[in-house]
Amino acid sequence: MNSHDNGGRDLPRDDDDILVLRQPDDWHVHFRDGAMLAFAAEHTARQFARAIVMPNLVPPVTTVAAAAAYRTRILEALPADHRFVPLMTAYLTDEIDPAEIAAGFRDGVFTACKLYPAGATTNSAAGVTDVRRIWPVLERMQAIGMPLLVHGEVVSPDIDIFDREAVFLETVLAPVLADFPGLKVVLEHITTEDSVRFVAAAGANLAATITAHHLRLDRNALFEGGLRPHAYCLPVAKRRRHKEALRKAATSGDPKFFLGTDSAPHQKHEKESACGCAGIFSAPTALESYAQTFDEEGALDRLEAFASVSGPRFYGLPLNEGTVTLRRAPQQVPELMTGDGVRVVPFHATETLAWRFAGRGGQATDDNGPS
Ligand code: DOR
Ligand code: ZN
Repeated sequence: MNSHDNGGRDLPRDDDDILVLRQPDDWHVHFRDGAMLAFAAEHTARQFARAIVMPNLVPPVTTVAAAAAYRTRILEALPADHRFVPLMTAYLTDEIDPAEIAAGFRDGVFTACKLYPAGATTNSAAGVTDVRRIWPVLERMQAIGMPLLVHGEVVSPDIDIFDREAVFLETVLAPVLADFPGLKVVLEHITTEDSVRFVAAAGANLAATITAHHLRLDRNALFEGGLRPHAYCLPVAKRRRHKEALRKAATSGDPKFFLGTDSAPHQKHEKESACGCAGIFSAPTALESYAQTFDEEGALDRLEAFASVSGPRFYGLPLNEGTVTLRRAPQQVPELMTGDGVRVVPFHATETLAWRFAGRGGQATDDNGPS
């Protein structure tokens, strides 16, 4: 496969200041529920045609009925003229029934299953305590071609937080792949050079998502002039050399690496707290953030493969037919974004980004940016 793969679309001539991409998807997002859902989902639906919606609600989405009801709530929360398809996931627990998972996949409710090691991150208390407990589920998923999406961190307090992803590769992911060589696995939101190497070296059944924020933040961002809760997410950002490896992987054209924002809104007061929540809300300017990184890497011609082609190919879903347009025009990201009962500090708050999302369709110029 060439590194400029655009899925066979006839590219309109892009000039230096206009970027037209096949309509992209977000392969990892958190919408939450209630007031936060009403606030957050719209931002993703504005830029993306589809998104893999994470199931870490309270209580988590563990049944077909719960996922179908959540999908309805998402669609009801969107503006009437939306053109967006939420792709639902099942939250794996120690007790989850393989038959429930398979029924949801067969009926088109579940697109994939999400593995949260218990205690690894936000609302993961009901997650899997030992991956061996879900062997029968993985067996069934492999048999029916259902993807496993993995939060790749071990949770033992003995393991340094900066090493948790690398240790997970050896102690959990490698054995899973060895026992289930036909299982499709996405290692979500990778943060290390180790993961880049591991994924690149594995078979075609293993891929990885990369967030917009891990392409721009290293661990120093957490302490820049003071404690910075809005740079805190999980897996936590690592050393600069890891960020550089992620930037190389994302912009390489390798179809094993594709877009997943992990946009994860939390209320401002829950981030700015003595025990602040992990998560970065990147949805409002997700494409602009990725475009800035690809531009800096001299790889704008590879953004389309990363954002719009490699993800659907891995999932075995059709490529989107429409386009989005980005314009090179500076925009300042708001310091705070508000909804009904919701106050969220977005990724890039107060920064000026070089690109601006200009709407869907090749000629679109009608989008005024996040508000
Ligand atoms: O930073 C994160 N936030 N990482 C996760 O794994 C979960 C997410 C959330 O749900 O807030
Ligand atoms: Zn996530």
